[in-house]
Amino acid sequence: MKPSALSALGRRTTLPPISWLMHAALSRPKLISLAAGFTDNATLPVEISRRLLNRVLRSPKTGRPALQYGITAGETNLRQLTARHLQKLDGVSVTSKSHSWERLMITGGSQQLLYMTMEALCDEGDIVLVEDPTYFVFLSILQSRGLRARGVGSLFARNRACHWRNNGCKKALERDGLDLKHLETVLQRLKKSGELRRVKALYLVSYFQNPTGVTTSFEKKCGILKLLRQFERAAGHPIYLIEDAAYRELPFVRGRADLPVSRAERQLGPTIAPSALMVPGAVDRVIYTGTYSKPYAPGARVGFGILPEPLFTTVQYIKGNHDFGTANLLQQLLASALETGLYDRHVTKIQKRYAQKAQVMKRALAEHFPSNVEIWEAGGGLYFWARLPRHIPTGVKSKVFQAALKNDVLYVPGEICYADDPSRRKPDHEMRLSFGSASEADIREGIKRLGKVLRKLL
Ligand SMILES: Cc1ncc(COP(=O)(O)O)c(C=O)c1O
Repeated sequence: MKPSALSALGRRTTLPPISWLMHAALSRPKLISLAAGFTDNATLPVEISRRLLNRVLRSPKTGRPALQYGITAGETNLRQLTARHLQKLDGVSVTSKSHSWERLMITGGSQQLLYMTMEALCDEGDIVLVEDPTYFVFLSILQSRGLRARGVGSLFARNRACHWRNNGCKKALERDGLDLKHLETVLQRLKKSGELRRVKALYLVSYFQNPTGVTTSFEKKCGILKLLRQFERAAGHPIYLIEDAAYRELPFVRGRADLPVSRAERQLGPTIAPSALMVPGAVDRVIYTGTYSKPYAPGARVGFGILPEPLFTTVQYIKGNHDFGTANLLQQLLASALETGLYDRHVTKIQKRYAQKAQVMKRALAEHFPSNVEIWEAGGGLYFWARLPRHIPTGVKSKVFQAALKNDVLYVPGEICYADDPSRRKPDHEMRLSFGSASEADIREGIKRLGKVLRKLL
């Protein structure tokens, strides 16, 4: 082995799948990417942002603070507006302690917050429980930091009756997230092996999950927190629930995206399921992460989170070392969007747009995919999840992936969404299909190409 000055983390960290997926999408102009979770290009708020930035920079009095360094935890105004926004989504009063702006931090995307949370909570060898499957970039953080992940089955993965298309069955049955029985089994197993004290958190993508589209019900969130608490005594410390609500504001809404948004439509009310912050006792156990990337613009890259003490203070100190504050100009842009109501108007518009694009993908899948491919359809978010027959792998080296690439279409291989968990075999016959950034014509063409590949190989 060549001598190297790299740290253990440096040596361990490999090219994250997200980097090569994004590179492939951007470097091959003819390629239709149904892979990366980019947002819809056509509806990115260019005009709105120009107006809002003009507003922020209209005078030295408003412009100078925006162009200056700010506060590590984020601008007070944006923290207050974001807390109010979350209160509205959860339908709680302004005085609610769980949603208080003092517990809320603004970060460089929610990705930064997830990373810092892992830094604050976990030492090398510690264990984080994750859904099977889950957001693969979070798994990269765990791998890079030398942490171990244990997969917990989600109900939909174990119940074969709950998908949209199973040999002609087009009814979506109830799917409400994590399998609590399996969570209990995993915790019992870890207790028995003496590893419970290494378990620090459970990571849950709770709304229109990346990658499956599943939304976790409030009852499940209560059940998860109850179980985690039960095992805390044996663990000897709190076990946190990290609720990643990145897609919360993207439920599908029917209607035409190109028509003006009405006043009634602009009043974003409580969403499908309340957040885990609403569970009794959540104040000191739930870490809630959210983002303005998906509902507004990933290029602005502003995220946020609510953290219990002592985590809030620790993460704030860590952020002090990372960047001592998220870009002020971008925070002002978001604050301005929220204050003027333009944010809500934009969100309603893109909810309709994604509903429309999801329909386009659904129709194309029905037309072009072989009937023995099972497909899960969400009520929001950016993804469809497809499962091929067990003997047809979809990984990067598989015939399916290589043939798809040859035909200039890209998907996310399902296997990268599963943690390296030695207690079970990693499923390798699934794929995530995104309708986020591709145009409607490209969605149709991409699914057609992929369908052709699959028909040939199945
Ligand atoms: C589930 C989930 N969480 C977090 C993020 C990070 O988003 P951002 O850092 O842009 O807020 C993403 C991005 O795709 C995601 O899918």
